[in-house]
Amino acid sequence: MRSRRAEMARGFFIALEGGEGAGKSTQSLRLAASLRAAGREVVLTREPGGSPGAEDIRKLLVTGDAARWSPLTEALLMYAAREDHLNVTIRPALARGAVVITDRFADSSEAYQGAGGGVPPEVLNALRAMVVGRDEPDLTLIFDLPVEAGLARAAARGGDARFESKGAGYHQRLRDAYLAIAARRKETAVLIDAAQSEAAVAEAISQRVADAMARAGA
Ligand SMILES: Nc1ncnc2c1ncn2[C@@H]1O[C@H](COP(=O)(O)OP(=O)(O)O)[C@@H](O)[C@H]1O
Ligand SMILES: [Mg+2]
Repeated sequence: MRSRRAEMARGFFIALEGGEGAGKSTQSLRLAASLRAAGREVVLTREPGGSPGAEDIRKLLVTGDAARWSPLTEALLMYAAREDHLNVTIRPALARGAVVITDRFADSSEAYQGAGGGVPPEVLNALRAMVVGRDEPDLTLIFDLPVEAGLARAAARGGDARFESKGAGYHQRLRDAYLAIAARRKETAVLIDAAQSEAAVAEAISQRVADAMARAGA
């Protein structure tokens, strides 16, 4: 029988953030598996995408010429996708008590379209307030890794070359933006040393998640 507490629980919302090759996708799978093994319902999702409509918008963002969209168009498409992702996938899952793990969320817009692309913070903050509102992640894990190490991992993995072609200065701006987010949002964002082994990163994450869920009563 479910406890009264379980019936009342709102879910728990976790975002994984950081640069290319930092290990977000690898660790999101591991975290989902360990929470499921502990008996939780887990919705593992990603951005851009995470709902049928948002996956359609994703195709606009990740196919074609990398210079196809201005940074502001990109930000608007990202937020259009995020609105659908929240409405169709994230909010219903949290309402039924699931743990939602998203591989990237709104901090990626701040890093990539903001610090990387030059979209002003007030524009991104307004979109974020309008679209995300109160449904910010309970915990954001920011994967931090030296730029060269991340690019080497991403290159070894293969796949999307559009970011790897941007140069080290661009990637350093992204890293600095993520470090600034972690410094500013101390209550809900934690830095994860992503240069460690996969097993060590997984261990650091499970401790952080367990602590944060216990504190939230989730
Ligand atoms: N801690 C780690 N140490 C070494 N290699 C890793 C580690 N975590 C992931 N990798 C490898 O690095 C590559 C990028 O990992 P991935 O999870 O796809 O990163 P992201 O989703 O952040 O871009 C993959 O080939 C993955 O197997
Ligand atoms: Mg990934």
